[in-house]
Amino acid sequence: NQEEGIRPHRLADYIGQKELKDVLEIAIAAAKARNEALDHLLLYGPPGLGKTTMSLILATEMGTNCKITAAPALERPRDIVGILVNLKPGDILFIDEIHRLTRMSEELLYPAMEDYRLDITIGKGQSARTRSIPLPQFTLVGATTRVGSLTSPLRDRFGLIQRLRFYEPEELSLIVQRTAQLLQTPMSEEGAIEIARRSRGTPRIANRLLRRVRDYAQVKKMGVINPDVAAEALEVFNVDPAGLDWTDRLVLSVMIEQFQGGPVGLEAVAAATGEDAQTIEEVYEPYLLQIGYLHRTPRGRVATDAARKHLGYWQE
Ligand code: ADE
Repeated sequence: NQEEGIRPHRLADYIGQKELKDVLEIAIAAAKARNEALDHLLLYGPPGLGKTTMSLILATEMGTNCKITAAPALERPRDIVGILVNLKPGDILFIDEIHRLTRMSEELLYPAMEDYRLDITIGKGQSARTRSIPLPQFTLVGATTRVGSLTSPLRDRFGLIQRLRFYEPEELSLIVQRTAQLLQTPMSEEGAIEIARRSRGTPRIANRLLRRVRDYAQVKKMGVINPDVAAEALEVFNVDPAGLDWTDRLVLSVMIEQFQGGPVGLEAVAAATGEDAQTIEEVYEPYLLQIGYLHRTPRGRVATDAARKHLGYWQE
């Protein structure tokens, strides 16, 4: 995993998400003072904003381990049982895409979260009996891009529910500079800002773009990454000055050209672009909404005048 070497390991090194850090600092200090596991935590928000990273940091801060998994890997009840019984006291269990848990796996989690207890049924029909297995105190960190898709019994069992926000360009610039240092890549502050401006508020994208720019600068022997080098490289990789990539622009231009700018339903946009509807909704739309290029209305999606201007459809 490319992200491994560049993730921050301590809360103090995590840039941005101030509100989240403030809340977690208190929770960590309180749990440590009482010698208890941290409260269960639900993190939601668009992908790439640092949910996994934060979960790993929490384990470091608590002096425990973090087991990382995702709901699609927990389809059968035995998958989740296997993980739970192997946890050590205070461990963190990170479940990504937690809104996709199967009903049975989810129901196993209820007593596990609430009472650190696993209720399993042995046998079938008349002879079926339930057995309770005590579990060590642990912390469940759930991550999701769609908090509205969680069932309320599951959501209600999280003591902390926190949203991650898109990062400001200044924060992304600090993240890019930090990563460049770790990669020993010479870059000016202005170069970092140019990459940050094109990163759609998302550290994962910022670090990915930095790698592309770094390759380009190296192969073209351009030396220190300054704004011109960054802009030229990102042009080649089809990332425009607002950070929109080929798919962002396709989604918007299809809406404008084929649906008069909307309102148009998500499924129609998906069909016309050949992209997956859920990917459009969870990966592409959040940032387009954030920068005001897209609106969601009861009758469907609308491409805004700002989007038309950006894409050059606007005639004064
Ligand atoms: N790398 C990725 N996300 C980060 C963050 N929020 N702070 C510091 N480094 C990061």
